[in-house]
Amino acid sequence: MEPRDTLGRPLKALRISVTDRCNFRCTYCMPKEVFGPDYAFLPREALLSFEEITRLVRVFTGLGVTKVRLTGGEPLMRRELPALVRMLAGVPGLEDLALTTNGALLPELAPALKAAGLRRLTMSLDTLRPERFRAISDTDLPLERVLAGLEAARAAGFGPVKLNCVLKRGVNDDEILELAAFAREGGHTLRFIEFMDVGTTNGWQMEAVVPAAQVRRILESRWPIEPLETGEDAVARTWRYRDGQGEIGLIASVTAPFCRGCDRARLSAEGRLYTCLFAGQSLDLKTFLRSGHGDADLAALLAFHWKRRGDHYSEIRHGATPNLPKVEMSRIGG
Ligand code: GTP
Ligand code: 5AD
Ligand code: SF4
Ligand code: SF4
Repeated sequence: MEPRDTLGRPLKALRISVTDRCNFRCTYCMPKEVFGPDYAFLPREALLSFEEITRLVRVFTGLGVTKVRLTGGEPLMRRELPALVRMLAGVPGLEDLALTTNGALLPELAPALKAAGLRRLTMSLDTLRPERFRAISDTDLPLERVLAGLEAARAAGFGPVKLNCVLKRGVNDDEILELAAFAREGGHTLRFIEFMDVGTTNGWQMEAVVPAAQVRRILESRWPIEPLETGEDAVARTWRYRDGQGEIGLIASVTAPFCRGCDRARLSAEGRLYTCLFAGQSLDLKTFLRSGHGDADLAALLAFHWKRRGDHYSEIRHGATPNLPKVEMSRIGG
């Protein structure tokens, strides 16, 4: 019943992009030169409706999915998002419902998201310096808004928030200890992420990647840390501070790929299914959903598609692969 792919991996997690729009233009994700005023974002009618998304999640849980993460673009730009959270929170079999956000709209939305049944929040935080924030995120919204978003999440009753920090050499790698200290003091779990060659527009170069092993050495120079056991499906490798001040994670998709345990599928806002973050191809579920098929047909299609999957991009990355046609991160979230 529960499908396995050609490498024996089950389907456990679904990451759902609810919009391809964002109020930031991070250089590593949506560079302004590409995602400028003339960029053609998806029109409203092209997006899956909340009912369609919820139906899909019901069918996915029947195939073994227990975790859903809402992403974007910036998911909080989707109108009425808490209503979707409420619908998904009621799906039987769903054990985990999380959201990845840049935080800028959390001051307004955190209480409603909590009330709707959202379990966990992950926020991006690449720098603590206002000027640098402006350069990386390329938005007129100030860093203060993001920090207010973090506070709003705490005030709304979300437990520790996970903080994602994409490191780029020469951009923010001099802030590793400051960011870690900030997270330790606030009780948040920070994860440093290696800059990846997702999509084709972010000008990725290996020289800009700060390898996780180097980050680990920098952390060890300040605080004693010890590795924690992590499951095969884990994206981050996690260390605990020996002084009991929480944990820190490293996401080494470039230097230490974790495809072996990859149990994640991704759904774009327009209803296309991707079985890898670096996929060049996808399955058009929206057309299928809108052509009158029942849930059994849908489940059969999804199972068939998953069984054919053999993706392991991060393990086969080499000089030429960054230039392959690939989906943009803003279409399928992080
Ligand atoms: P939870 O375990 O649900 O807390 O989240 P996570 O550890 O999967 O982390 P999250 O969803 O916050 O992802 C963090 C970052 O890791 C993303 O923004 C990506 O940069 C990277 N990442 C997540 N999933 C994958 C994946 O399947 N492949 C690769 N190459 N990178 C990934
Ligand atoms: N490399 C690594 N992570 C990325 N993200 C976006 N673009 C990249 C990239 N090129 C991730 C960040 C951000 C999330 C939304 O997507 O973790 O927090
Ligand atoms: Fe927006 Fe997140 Fe991409 Fe930055 S990384 S442009 S905040 S979707
Ligand atoms: Fe999964 Fe593709 Fe990431 Fe490997 S590169 S972990 S297969 S999404």
